[in-house]
Amino acid sequence: MHNVIQSHLAVTFALLLPAIAAIRWYIRDRYKVDGFNKKYVFITGCDSGFGNLLARQLDGKGLHVMAACLTEKGAADLAAAASPRLKTLLLNVTDSANIGRAVEFVSEEVGERGLWGLVNNAGRSVPIGPTEWLKLEDFTKVLDVNLIGVIDVTLQFLPLLKKAQGRVVNVASILGRLSLIGGGYCLSKWGVEAFSDSLRRDMRPFGIKVSIIEPGFFKTAVTRLDLIEADLRRLWTSLPEDVKDSYGKTYFDDYVKAQDFSMGLLCSPDISKVTRCMEHALTARFPRTRYGAGWDAKFFWIPLSYLPSFVSDYVTNVLLPSPKDQRNV
Ligand SMILES: *[C@@H]1O[C@H](CO)[C@@H](O)[C@H](O)[C@H]1NC(C)=O
Repeated sequence: MHNVIQSHLAVTFALLLPAIAAIRWYIRDRYKVDGFNKKYVFITGCDSGFGNLLARQLDGKGLHVMAACLTEKGAADLAAAASPRLKTLLLNVTDSANIGRAVEFVSEEVGERGLWGLVNNAGRSVPIGPTEWLKLEDFTKVLDVNLIGVIDVTLQFLPLLKKAQGRVVNVASILGRLSLIGGGYCLSKWGVEAFSDSLRRDMRPFGIKVSIIEPGFFKTAVTRLDLIEADLRRLWTSLPEDVKDSYGKTYFDDYVKAQDFSMGLLCSPDISKVTRCMEHALTARFPRTRYGAGWDAKFFWIPLSYLPSFVSDYVTNVLLPSPKDQRNV
C-alpha cells in the first residue's frame, strides 16, 4: 500500500514539475521592461522587409524609432507611413564615416539617456550560387555589408548603448547555422552568430543584452528570385566554356527551376513572425539569446543543424540539381 502511494506521488511530481517550469517560463517571458513604450531604438535597413515593418510596428506602440535607410526613396516612403515621432536617416553601413554621422544624429536625439536598442538588420544576399562560379569580390561585397557593417555599427554605437544599459538585436539567419548555398551570405551569417556570442559575453557585466534572430525563409528583398537569378545568369554567362560543359548545357535552367520551386515552397509571406521576435528582444524584461523565427526554422532547419553533416548534405542535394559530371566521380 505504502509503495503504491509512493509511486503515485513520484509520477505526479514527474509530470507536474516540467509543467510548472513551463508555466513559470511562459509568465516570465511575458514581463516587459518598465516604460518600454518610451524607449529609443535605432534600426538599420529600414527601406523594406523586416526593418521597415519593425520600424512601423514599434512606432505604432509609441517607441522613439530612428530608422536608417539606404535610399532616399526608402526613407521618404517610411516617413510618410509613420508618425512624426519616427525619424529617418540615410546610412550605408559599409561607410565608417557615414556610421559616425549616424551616431552623432542619434546622440542628439537621445541625449543623456543613451540608446536603448540597436537593431542590426541591414543585409544583402546577392550573389549566391555555386561556389565555383564566384570571384573573391562576390564574397567581399556581401561580407562587407552583412558582417563588417554589423561589427562597425555595433562598435560605434556601444558607448551610447552602455549609457542606457541597452540591447543589441542582430539579424542572423538559419543560414548562420547551416550553409545551404555558396557565396558570402552564409559566411556572413555564421560570422554574425559568432560576433554576437562574443559581444553578449563581453558586455553582460555592463548590463547590455544581446539577442540573435534566426529567421527561416521569408519573402523579402533578400529572397527576391528575380534579383538572385539575374545575378546568377551574369555569373553563368561569364564562366569559361569548359566549366559550363562540366555542369552540362541545361544546368543553369535546371538550377533556376529547382530554386524557384524550393523557394516558392519555403518562403513565408508573414514577416511579422520575425518582427515579433525583434520586438520581444527589445521590450521583454528577459529577452532570449536566440530566436528561431518561423516554423521552418524552429522545427526543421535548427534541429537539422544539430544532426551529422551527411544528413544536411543529403537535404541540400535534394533541393538543388547535380552537375552532369558527377557520375564520373
Ligand atoms: C556605400 O559606401 C561604399 C564605401 O564608401 C561605396 O563603395 C558604395 O558604393 C556605397 N553604396 C551605396 C549603395 O551607396
